[in-house]
Amino acid sequence: MRIEGKNVIVTGASSGIGRALALAFAGKRAAVTAAARRADRLDQLVREVAERFPDAPPVVPVTCDVTREADVSWLVGGTVERRGAVDILVNNAGIGLYGKMESVSIEDFQEVLSVNLLGAVRCIREVVPFMRTRESGVIVNVASVAALHGVPYLSAYCASKGALVAASQSLRAELDGTGIRVMIVYPGYTDTEIFEHEKVVGGARRPPGPFAPPGRVAAGIVRAIERNAGDVFLTAQGRALSVLRGLAPPIVERAMRRIARELRGGDESQADDGTR
Ligand SMILES: NC(=O)c1ccc[n+]([C@@H]2O[C@H](COP(=O)([O-])OP(=O)(O)OC[C@H]3O[C@@H](n4cnc5c(N)ncnc54)[C@H](OP(=O)(O)O)[C@@H]3O)[C@@H](O)[C@H]2O)c1
Repeated sequence: MRIEGKNVIVTGASSGIGRALALAFAGKRAAVTAAARRADRLDQLVREVAERFPDAPPVVPVTCDVTREADVSWLVGGTVERRGAVDILVNNAGIGLYGKMESVSIEDFQEVLSVNLLGAVRCIREVVPFMRTRESGVIVNVASVAALHGVPYLSAYCASKGALVAASQSLRAELDGTGIRVMIVYPGYTDTEIFEHEKVVGGARRPPGPFAPPGRVAAGIVRAIERNAGDVFLTAQGRALSVLRGLAPPIVERAMRRIARELRGGDESQADDGTR
């Protein structure tokens, strides 16, 4: 697929992978609609694209909370009205939540699902009817290697991403033959703000990395769209985990238990009251 001239919506475009994706699409002269809650960050992105890629169509910033149906409807409907179509939707908005499962409140668990899983579902429900009328489109769902197997101290996050993968597979089969493709991306650890903003409920330390730069992750995603890829593993660990969990589940289980032991007992005072 050629990216130039395509109408692209990126959710969670105010920082990290989403911001890097918006820049990568603009660098290929796509018409980007950038969505997130922080309007000031989106305005910075608009300015940066205008400076770095003067040939690209201007980025349209849309303040949108993906947990609100009205915002999502406005995002998709407004993009279609302004630009005539949505060729590529990237469901990237996401939040983290770290710590032992018994300390995670139901409300916090639900919030993670509402952003990471249902945020994508809301966008998909809005965009698919438009894509069907044009018999084309690409839906890119940004999952995580944490979707491949439950990872200790990331119960809500893994549940949200695992469910996103399952829902994406359902959608992919349902849309077969319509001209609409569904891509699932499994990034590994990436150096973004997600770790600063995530709520920490305690009971474990965060592993130290290593972290990929968001620009590299974004470039990998854009290349995968150009290649019409289906499932996109951006790291060797992600590929290895996807193979091993099928071939040798006990090895993966053992590795997860070891990680849980190594990280257990993080200072309980790390728990905070972050609201994202
Ligand atoms: N970083 C990693 O190691 C890693 C690994 C695998 C997968 N991922 C996934 O990659 C995606 C991007 O995350 P990131 O690492 O780039 O983190 P990030 O820098 O924190 O970016 C997250 C983005 O999501 C937006 N967002 C959060 N809640 C939202 C809501 N309710 N409505 C709309 N937008 C919302 C944030 O913008 P506002 O706050 O302005 O709304 C921000 O633009 C997420 O889906 C994440 O799960 C990340």
